[in-house]
Amino acid sequence: MDQYVVIGNPIAHSKSPMIHQEFARACAQSMNYQRLLAPLDGFAETVRQFIASGGRGANVTVPFKLDAFALATELSPRAQAAGAVNTLRFSSDGVYGDNTDGTGLVTDIVSNAGVPLQKKRILLLGAGGAARGVLLPLLECGPDELIIANRSAEKAQQLALQFAPYGNTAACEFDGIEGQFDVVINATSASLSAQVPAIPAHVFSGQCLAYDMMYGEQPTSFMAFAREHGAATRDGWGMLVEQAAEAFFCWRGVRPDTASLLVRK
Ligand code: ATR
Repeated sequence: MDQYVVIGNPIAHSKSPMIHQEFARACAQSMNYQRLLAPLDGFAETVRQFIASGGRGANVTVPFKLDAFALATELSPRAQAAGAVNTLRFSSDGVYGDNTDGTGLVTDIVSNAGVPLQKKRILLLGAGGAARGVLLPLLECGPDELIIANRSAEKAQQLALQFAPYGNTAACEFDGIEGQFDVVINATSASLSAQVPAIPAHVFSGQCLAYDMMYGEQPTSFMAFAREHGAATRDGWGMLVEQAAEAFFCWRGVRPDTASLLVRK
């Protein structure tokens, strides 16, 4: 049976095995998918051992997405732009690195939530790895404008400069955000500590979708704040499922149906 893993540290919480085992069952693929804990200083060695034992592919999560980028011998354009890799495919040709996070986010917003991004005004909060990972797929949707706002504005400016060739993007700090947005995406890690980025409430409107890339049992603090100010909200569960589906396609050449997994059990 073909072997796949999700590699991270910590990894016990990962929902990826459940998602991929369900995809494999539904698509009648003979494969096994497990969690693999790598030591913080031992990502490359862990991958080497997994390849030597016959491993075919891996998902990569915190904190190893940059290590996976460095390890890949070939990169997809979207992994190249993201500067990070969440999907590895192993073959006799070498190690292929992809990044399916941004496509997962876009599919969840456009197809699952039914909110188009073309010609829309998007606000992206955060300028770390999570934000960088989704910028190219977001800009490829053709928004009118994509503003990157971050607590440290300089990091947002660097990202806006880097992605300027792909669309109309600009940067600002939180208290410099002007006007309302069709979609506000939280790519900061603030929700991990139940905090809300210090953005002005005027960014939301009754027509706005506020999307938190984090997910949990309860709505995040960002979602609660956005709801109070009239926005519809969505958490990152659908993004997780859709990035997994795209990784599955990268490995198996089969696109799994995600509908049953999108419904939270
Ligand atoms: P990740 O890979 O999850 O993006 P990261 O690269 O450490 O992690 O980036 C974390 C992001 O969340 C950054 O944009 C950070 O803002 P700074 O660059 O100003 O540090 C942002 N962030 C974290 N906690 C935050 C908070 N409480 N309010 C606003 N932004 C926060």
